[in-house]
Amino acid sequence: MLKKKNAYVVAIAGATGLVGREMIDILAERNFPVSELVPLASERSEGERIQFRGKNLIVKRLAKDCFKGVDIALFSAGADRSLEFAPEAVKSGAVVIDNSSAFRMDPQVPLVVPEVNAHSIAAHTGIIANPNCSTIGMVVVLKPIHDAAKIKRIVVTTFQSVSGTGKEAIDELAGQTVALLNFRDVEKKVYPHQIAFNCLPHIDSFLDDGYTKEEMKMVNETRKIMEDESIRVTATTVRVPVFRCHSESVNIETEKEISANEVRAILATAPGVIVYDDPKKDIYPLAIDVAGKDEVYVGRIRADDSIPNGINLWIVSDNLRKGAALNAVQIAEHCIK
Ligand SMILES: NC(=O)c1ccc[n+]([C@@H]2O[C@H](COP(=O)([O-])OP(=O)(O)OC[C@H]3O[C@@H](n4cnc5c(N)ncnc54)[C@H](OP(=O)(O)O)[C@@H]3O)[C@@H](O)[C@H]2O)c1
Repeated sequence: MLKKKNAYVVAIAGATGLVGREMIDILAERNFPVSELVPLASERSEGERIQFRGKNLIVKRLAKDCFKGVDIALFSAGADRSLEFAPEAVKSGAVVIDNSSAFRMDPQVPLVVPEVNAHSIAAHTGIIANPNCSTIGMVVVLKPIHDAAKIKRIVVTTFQSVSGTGKEAIDELAGQTVALLNFRDVEKKVYPHQIAFNCLPHIDSFLDDGYTKEEMKMVNETRKIMEDESIRVTATTVRVPVFRCHSESVNIETEKEISANEVRAILATAPGVIVYDDPKKDIYPLAIDVAGKDEVYVGRIRADDSIPNGINLWIVSDNLRKGAALNAVQIAEHCIK
């Protein structure tokens, strides 16, 4: 358990990545009590400088002995690094908040979205997992509806930005776009197909049953966070040529009847949610507007008349903020309360 202090030593594993950099900005923005920030990355970035609160910090190479004196370690350097180094950080006395998929479904590890299940943080034994970026946005919106009308089934299709893959994917989309507009051939390194001007129904690797790991993360993590194994979930996850923010088309079937207006009213007061829903005035959430925002935006709320108790929604959230860095910092804020 974290000892109460005026300020904490915070390490960031993956400090030079898209999520790591966002974590550093969010710690500063939210005035998180940091006495020392320890930026860690691979040998490629060793010695690089990173700015935190106007000071230049030198990036160190992630190693097992990096965590002496660290109170909180935010991990965002991929699942393999989390599996190797997070237990070492815990042994050194740190609480680990892990952004990767390494520990999410471990029954001993709380999987937390503070607006939904902050109470589960108390049960941690050193590691707390941050859910998948698409799952976070969806459960922030669905939990209040679940509490009011009990969701029986969720059908979700995602439209996920390339920043969800990391910094190299940003370069790939930008590079391919420029190449194609200049009538040149595209280079493919990150994705198996051209991502510019295209949609790829393929995120993470395929399993034997035809689903992707990303799709199964949405199924399994949703049930764990909402603490209801009876919810049936089916997902199709799609990578789209958008730089930032994940959008989701979500269809739910509830046990109790609930109207679109009731859903709108419930979500209007839900923590971390903004209802942005006036389609006749062309008002609905868009990735380009939600980029940089903390809240999860929801619009296009309407009844699905093809089933007895159905509702359709359109959800957009910033995958680097609420989908990753912000959610991790919010968990850290709960840990020091
Ligand atoms: N992007 C998202 O929306 C999102 C959302 C939720 C969760 N996540 C998870 O967060 C993690 C990072 O994602 P990202 O988008 O920030 O990726 P990224 O931009 O590619 O950054 C990866 C980070 O990990 C570091 N790293 C890679 N290999 C390493 C090694 N062998 N040893 C130490 N550090 C190493 C990199 O350091 P170098 O700069 O030195 O290479 C960099 O700091 C992943 O686990 C991802 O699944 C991402």
